[in-house]
Amino acid sequence: MSVKPNPTLSTSDADIAIAAGHLRAGGLVAFPTETVYGLGADATDDTAVARIYSTKGRPQINPLIVHVSDRSMATRFAVMTTMAAQLADACWPGPLTLVLSRREGAGASPVSRMVSAGLDSVAVRLPASDLARRLISTAGCPLAAPSANVSGTLSPTRASDVRFPPPPDGPLVIDGGACSVGIESTVVDCTGVRPVILRPGALTGEDIKAATGIEIGAATGGDLSAPKSPGQLAAHYAPATPVRMNAHTVAGDEALLAIGASPLVGAAQTLNLSPTGDLVEAAANFFAMLHELDRGKYSGIAVMEIPEIGLGAAINDRLRRAVISFATKID
Ligand code: TXA
Ligand code: MG
Repeated sequence: MSVKPNPTLSTSDADIAIAAGHLRAGGLVAFPTETVYGLGADATDDTAVARIYSTKGRPQINPLIVHVSDRSMATRFAVMTTMAAQLADACWPGPLTLVLSRREGAGASPVSRMVSAGLDSVAVRLPASDLARRLISTAGCPLAAPSANVSGTLSPTRASDVRFPPPPDGPLVIDGGACSVGIESTVVDCTGVRPVILRPGALTGEDIKAATGIEIGAATGGDLSAPKSPGQLAAHYAPATPVRMNAHTVAGDEALLAIGASPLVGAAQTLNLSPTGDLVEAAANFFAMLHELDRGKYSGIAVMEIPEIGLGAAINDRLRRAVISFATKID
């Protein structure tokens, strides 16, 4: 399904204006956020949102995150409870997605029901990326944006990893360089009495607790079969090459995704997520390095053990999904 190249725009004001006009006309624009590149469309335009699903090959049961340029844009279509507001005060702008109840009725802005995939909730995110916020405010509408990958493939953290046909089916692509965080946002369900992490991501429960004092319910974690967040059902980060985790040896026809000062020896190709074992650096390199090793057509990709702490938990979550090779892919 990958056709290159997509028409690429720069981050100049003139190019952002072109991208914003394209969005207002119902087109798709792939744009960088601090986490990964998003495949954006006007969230109030049903046809444009439908195009995200068809272009990504994403099943319509998996809802989309709506990106806003400021808090007031969010409260036009979502109900910000006191608890959600506390989380937003501490973590927005940033890689935290809040699942909130949809605001309906008079005065509510009409965000497409398709972004919610039939649920009464809507996921909202105010990205830290200045560029993403500039694009949203120039377009003047909230942007529905899943990660800018074909369903079932790796999320892109560089413009060159965004692979779609050109418009009208595919997006214009804004090349804003590499994403600084590299792992998707943490999705927190705020519709219940207690907030619950639906998808582990760039902010850990401990980060959020330290910033807010609010205890966040545990992620569904290892339970990939009965998750609350529809996107958690899937093996949706799978490269074409088989992946194995916690490798302590590596074969000569395998690629190695290493971490730390003592990478295993003997692989056909080795990339090191972080020679110092820094998990922030590892997250930033994670998808780009997996993309690169996947292109090498090796018999497998062996991944050294990544500590299950801090951003390591989110990296391991993505790896576990990459390992489940025959599950239904719905991202
Ligand atoms: O960092 C990110 O979150 C990136 C960038 C582009 O912002 N976006 C992203 O979107 O990762 P996507 O569509 O690949 O993942 C969205 C996740 C999915 O797991 C989806 O099921 C969940 O959020 N989600 C969206 N709306 C939801 C809702 N109303 N209730 C529960 N989960 C929801
Ligand atoms: Mg995704």
